[in-house]
Amino acid sequence: MNLTFSLIKPSAMNHCEEILMAIKTGGFSILAMKSQNLTLSQVKKFYKEHAERSFFEPMCERLTLGPVLLMALYEQNGKDTPLQFRALLGATNPKDAAPGTLRKRFGIDLDFNAIHGSDSDISAIRELSFFFSGMETGLILSNS
Ligand code: CMP
Repeated sequence: MNLTFSLIKPSAMNHCEEILMAIKTGGFSILAMKSQNLTLSQVKKFYKEHAERSFFEPMCERLTLGPVLLMALYEQNGKDTPLQFRALLGATNPKDAAPGTLRKRFGIDLDFNAIHGSDSDISAIRELSFFFSGMETGLILSNS
């Protein structure tokens, strides 16, 4: 699939413009984008696959500390866009991320890793339709 979902976390919103520039330079187009304050119940639904993990509650609370930037990203002629985009993001833990990746540049540690990106085509479809309507993206999403 040539689409993915990404979210700039509250702790990295002060680097929004540099991150957007790097995303575009990395070959991804922004199909739709909006800034929003998320509620705790929204975040818990969004991250539901992590509900049993020990870090679930604090991780969810951190996403409610300020506005986030939600993005639907598109790669022309792309394939496996979620995976391609995760290469630009770098490892989940910024301390393990390769030099030049977004998490290395803008993240601090596992808890403050700056940006989320879908981990598969299936997650991307779920996450895009969680936050965007078909009208907003110009795509047929399952909530349209
Ligand atoms: P993200 O890509 O948004 O997906 C889940 C988030 O959980 C992850 O980034 C991290 O910020 C956070 N997290 C906190 N602790 C851990 C951990 N031990 N393993 C994986 N993710 C963690």
